[in-house]
Amino acid sequence: MVENEASNNDGGIKGAMGNLTPPERKQEQTKTLSAQRRRYGVLAKLLFSSLDAVYGKERSLSKFKVLELVARVPYQSWEQVAYIAITHVSDRVAMARRIHDRVLESRSQQDNEQWHLLILEELIAERGIDESYLRYTVLPQVIAFIYYQVSALLYVVRPSLSYRLNADFEDHAEHEYMELVLEHPEWEGEVFESSIAAEYGHYESLADLFRQIGYDERVHKLESEGHLREPRFR
Ligand SMILES: [Fe+2]
Ligand SMILES: [Fe+2]
Repeated sequence: MVENEASNNDGGIKGAMGNLTPPERKQEQTKTLSAQRRRYGVLAKLLFSSLDAVYGKERSLSKFKVLELVARVPYQSWEQVAYIAITHVSDRVAMARRIHDRVLESRSQQDNEQWHLLILEELIAERGIDESYLRYTVLPQVIAFIYYQVSALLYVVRPSLSYRLNADFEDHAEHEYMELVLEHPEWEGEVFESSIAAEYGHYESLADLFRQIGYDERVHKLESEGHLREPRFR
């Protein structure tokens, strides 16, 4: 077994979340599958049903790639809003510093989502999966653009709304990944060595890798839920 050497959970900007062993990742999958999903809000439900309508209900690598393209967007919007807020309060250094901590967190989550995206791209290329350019390249960018505007607007109007929407999105992603692993028992024996293993870590099987991604989504959800208690910059 090769440990996930690139892991960190100390606010760094690279790698997977936490430092779990393969058996621990299995436990986390069981935990997700036995947990209730969040009660999704109207916007989240609208997004999920739109994605199902366009990409089908079936869990496919291509559909997860679309999810990952969209997943980075709230963190990008929060990062931008936080930088603007720092400009406005730069004379209050302690507060500006606290806002900067949120920037660091957003950046770390964004990078983590980006590793997920790149791993999916690699798998899709390796398997020679054919994707329509319009449905899997153009349309996801349109969806991501709209989602960016919604996330940023909610964040400016009432940050808790934006955090809630993201918690719903991450909860959905967490459950979908853990279900995906359940649907593919053959992945338990399949080894996949990603070209970004130096950054994201080594995994004993494809199933193990996807359990880690599902766990990352849980961490993102918990961070957003944590901010629901104190959403505004102080
Ligand atoms: Fe992700
Ligand atoms: Fe996520």
